[in-house]
Formats: sequence, C-alpha cells, structure tokens
Amino acid sequence: MRYDAVIFDLDGTLTESEPGITKSVQYALEKMNRPAPDQATLRRFIGPPLYESFAEIAGMPPEDAARAVDVYRERFSTVGWKENSVYRGIAPLLRSLKKNGAYVAVATGKPEIFSRRILDYFGLAPFIDRLAAIEESDLHADKPALVRRALPEKFARACMVGDRAGDMEGALANGIDGVGALYGYGSREELEGAGAAFIAEDVTSLSDYLLDGSPAAPGVFVSFEGSDGCGKSTQMKRAAEWLASCGYEVISTREPGGCPISERIREIILDVGSAGMTAECEALLYAASRAQHVSQVIRPALERGAAVLCDRFLDSSMAYQGGGRKLGVELVREINAPAVKGLMPHKTLFYDISPDKAMRRRLAASEPDRMELEKKEFTDAVYAAYVRLARDNPARIAVIDGDRAIEAVEADTRRVLLDVLAGQQEG
Ligand code: TYD
Repeated sequence: MRYDAVIFDLDGTLTESEPGITKSVQYALEKMNRPAPDQATLRRFIGPPLYESFAEIAGMPPEDAARAVDVYRERFSTVGWKENSVYRGIAPLLRSLKKNGAYVAVATGKPEIFSRRILDYFGLAPFIDRLAAIEESDLHADKPALVRRALPEKFARACMVGDRAGDMEGALANGIDGVGALYGYGSREELEGAGAAFIAEDVTSLSDYLLDGSPAAPGVFVSFEGSDGCGKSTQMKRAAEWLASCGYEVISTREPGGCPISERIREIILDVGSAGMTAECEALLYAASRAQHVSQVIRPALERGAAVLCDRFLDSSMAYQGGGRKLGVELVREINAPAVKGLMPHKTLFYDISPDKAMRRRLAASEPDRMELEKKEFTDAVYAAYVRLARDNPARIAVIDGDRAIEAVEADTRRVLLDVLAGQQEG
C-alpha cells in the first residue's frame, strides 16, 4: 500500500453530510432573523469550523456567530446528524485498508460526541483506530493540531484525505501528503491550491490510489432464513437500505431466483400447476437454480467486495426438502455440493417464529404459492429442521426472535450485520 497510516476527514470525505448540515445552518440563520442563502452558499459551511463560517459567510459579529453555532447544534444534535450517509465504496475501502494492516484514523472539526455517534451509527467505528475531534465547547478547530493528534506514534508514510483546503493544510503542516477528495464539497482549484499530492475524483479512484494494488477485502455474504411469513423479507429490505447508507455496495437477491435462468426455474417450482412434483425433482430444481445464481450473481458480487444479502439460501433446501420433504439433510447437502462449490454465507439470520403464527401472517399478506399450500405437518417439520440447523451451526446461524415489533427485530439484525462486517475484514 502507498501509506501505512491514513487519516480521513469526516464530512465530505467519509460522509455525505450536506442535508443535515445545510438544513441546520438554515435553521440557525432563520432563528437569528438572517436572510436565507442559496444552496451553493450553504454548502460552503461544510468542512471549515462553523463559527468561522457564520462570521465570514453570513457576516456575523463574534457573539452572534457563537450563538448561531449553539442554535445550529439544537437541530443538528437531534435530527441533523442522521440526515447523512456514507459515500458508496467507503466502507469497503476502510475494510480493505484494515485488512492490509494500515492504521486508519479520523481528524474532524466536528465535536467528538457527534463524530463518535456518526461513526457508530453508520458502522464505521470498528475500522477506525483513533478519532481526533473537538470538544463541544470549542469554536475553533485547528486542523494541523487535529491531524497531529490523529497520527500514530510510528509510521513510515502517512497521508490526510480530505475535501477542503484546511485538510490539505493540516497535512502539509505535519509533513505528510494531502490527498484531495474531489467528490466532497471543495473544488479542484481549492485542493490544488492548498498543495494536494493527489486528487481523487471519486471513491473508486481514491481506493485505487490508496490500495495501490494491494488486495481489496472480499465481500460479505449474508442469508436471511425462516418459515414463510417469518418477516425475513421485510428485514432484508430494511437491512439493504441501511447498509447502502453505511457506504456498502449492496446486492439484494433471492432464492429460488435472483437471475433470469433461476427465475424461470422458480416459476416451475412454485406454480400450483406443478402439483405431483417428486421431492427429488423439487430438491434438484432448487439446486439447479442455486448453481446458476451462485456463479452468475453471488460470486462475482463477492469478488467485487459487495455485501450480498440473499433471501433464502442452502438452509432453505435443508429445512424444506431435507426436513419438510423428509429427504434428509445429508442428501440435500450432496445434491447442492456442485451448486455451491463450497460457498456458504458468512452469516445466516434465522428469524425464529412459531410456524403457525408465521403462516397466519403469510396468508394475511397475499395468495399462497405451491409450497405455502402445504399442510401443518410439513410446516412444522420445516421449522423443526431450522431449529436443528441453528443448534448445529451456532457460529454461522444467528437466531433472531421474529415474534416482536419490526423495529426490535431490525435492531438485532443490524447488530449481527455490524459484527459480521467488522469481523470479516480478516477473511
Ligand atoms: P418465496 O416466496 O421466495 O419465499 P418467502 O415467501 O419466504 O418470501 O418462496 C420460496 C418458497 O420456496 C418458500 O416456500 C420456501 C421454498 N424453498 C424451498 O423449499 N427450498 C429452497 O431451497 C428455497 C430457496 C426455497
């Protein structure tokens, strides 16, 4: 890698914080009876110390500028901090830097409590060795001092990545390279003028520059499992949105299906006109659709470093065909060996809810397909097989109580996902 220590600015470099910041600036100006500026002017507030921006951009005398910072924080601390997202590709870049042994820190003029909250909420905290931020009471952020605090005791080559002139100046003052993030809120002239050693137009070019040929961290594969109606599809949709806001490339897919050939196989399997299909035929068709899906969709996405979320995978075959159809888990595993070729999810979330309750939920939602027309004995056997699988694979399968409010289930889902994303950086 080009650097063994990389310091990042937060706003406009790791996070796309424009909505929360500009709306909170607007709020402060309005409360202080100042005219509303246009969005381009508001954008200039992102990055430099707020106090200085209120003084220089809004032309406020010192005591008004200090008051404006307080009013700004009223809104920012409650809603503004969440009106934010991590630039796409940043989370994989941080994972890759850590995987290759780099020291990674953040130097930001934002108060410590907000910075920490943002890094935690968006799942970046596990990749950050040190956070150098300011005290809430501080009005002036001295970027050179922040960069100095962020640097490790020992390093061979370090850089500061940021989107504004102040970030480049902070780097140069410490004798390290300044790397400009042009996708943020500064301009090329601003970054070049402040002595950037390299300017990255987007996160991909930043990653290529920093990794310099070192391998990127592989993606993460997570499957969502449970009885029909257990709520896994709702949870997966929410998880995908959240992970995208955390800066991951997210691929949401499903089985049977997920690509055109497998979707056609899905139609055959689930069609109520397929009554009389033997258990073996059914198991082989699920495996056939999986073979195509794994090689066409899942493996390529993982190689790109994406987070792959899959609504059902091999455990469904083990539970439905192995348990429900009584083919046995071993036969199903054998049938699927050429389909998965050793690929298993890094983590599987099993949404545990009694099969009766799940089926009531399921039938309330829409017309049942062929699998869902099965008798209670079948759904009970599927559920029992899931419980056994979870018991036999405690490291891979996380059991989540699905019989609760959506938000409570979602909170557990996020916790498990964060763990696996932080842990998999080794893999
Ligand atoms: P689908 O509507 O995708 O599932 P859900 O209703 O849970 O969203 O239907 C898939 C059906 O196929 C479901 O009943 C489970 C079953 N199935 C198997 O029996 N074996 C398998 O390997 C897979 C992937 C699914």
